[in-house]
Amino acid sequence: MNHFLSIADLTSSEFIDLLDLADSLKREWAAGGNRPILAGKTLAMLFQKPSLRTRVSFEMGMQHLGGHALYISPNEVGLGKRESVADVARVLSSYVDGIMARVFDHAHILELAEHSSVPVINGLSDYNHPAQGLTDIFTIREALGRLQGVRLVFVGDGNNVATSLMFGGAHTGMHVVVCTPQGFEPDPQVVSRARELAQATGATIELDHDPRQAVRGADVIYTDVWTSMGQEAEAQRRLQVFSPTYQVNAELLAASGNPDVRVMHCLPAHRGEEITSEVADSSHSLLWIQAENRMHAQKALLARLLGGL
Ligand code: CP
Ligand code: NVA
Repeated sequence: MNHFLSIADLTSSEFIDLLDLADSLKREWAAGGNRPILAGKTLAMLFQKPSLRTRVSFEMGMQHLGGHALYISPNEVGLGKRESVADVARVLSSYVDGIMARVFDHAHILELAEHSSVPVINGLSDYNHPAQGLTDIFTIREALGRLQGVRLVFVGDGNNVATSLMFGGAHTGMHVVVCTPQGFEPDPQVVSRARELAQATGATIELDHDPRQAVRGADVIYTDVWTSMGQEAEAQRRLQVFSPTYQVNAELLAASGNPDVRVMHCLPAHRGEEITSEVADSSHSLLWIQAENRMHAQKALLARLLGGL
């Protein structure tokens, strides 16, 4: 593993190793703190879009492991505008030990990785959100104690987060259902790649359009915003298409038939749109542990890529 650009680039056992490493780093942290395995190392964090979780959890993760993180705001570098992506990668990688980038165009992540002499971590692109996917599968394993056969139903837009969940679920034998309105399904190439990965683990990847039917028997119901960053011009149209059918609310939880069904959301949430406050703040909600786990899962990535652990 030289970079972390997509969960589909990893083997199933590399992915599970990361879950195990996250688990041991989380336990070590809880028992009093982590060893400074990244002492003297710096991570550059390049952002083209806003962030709370990704920015702060990577920064704190570096700090916990004895390293340092450098935040570069959307106004500074002008990736591909002020300077070519390749030149940014060459220069930045001569200063730091790792680059985490959040970009609009996934091609820019690939180009950064191609021209960087240090590991590149995808902190979200329009295509996927692998650090989130790693965290989410870690969180499900922690909450349920297993992954094989777990039914995860994603309700909403077949977006970057759904993509990473499909790849993560495929690697771990889960039954992943992505339930979207017509026209908002995940990219067919993502579906076929996820199904290819699933063959080795007994996972299944299904698409659906009817949330009430899809959630039946769900262990976990997952949702994300209907309008992702960069799609703001479509917000009104999307609201009309998704609302109210694709809202995760108490009625949809009841339709699962599982009194212990868990609910997840990568956040930020638009309360009252894709999820109600009643559900987000209920005992079914894994939202806050999921957000915390970003830090633990990403420490595993940092330890592996920058610390050789
Ligand atoms: N879930 C997530 O990536 O949150 P941020 O956009 O705040 O980083
Ligand atoms: N799908 C959302 C995820 C935010 C963390 C977006 O891309 O804006």
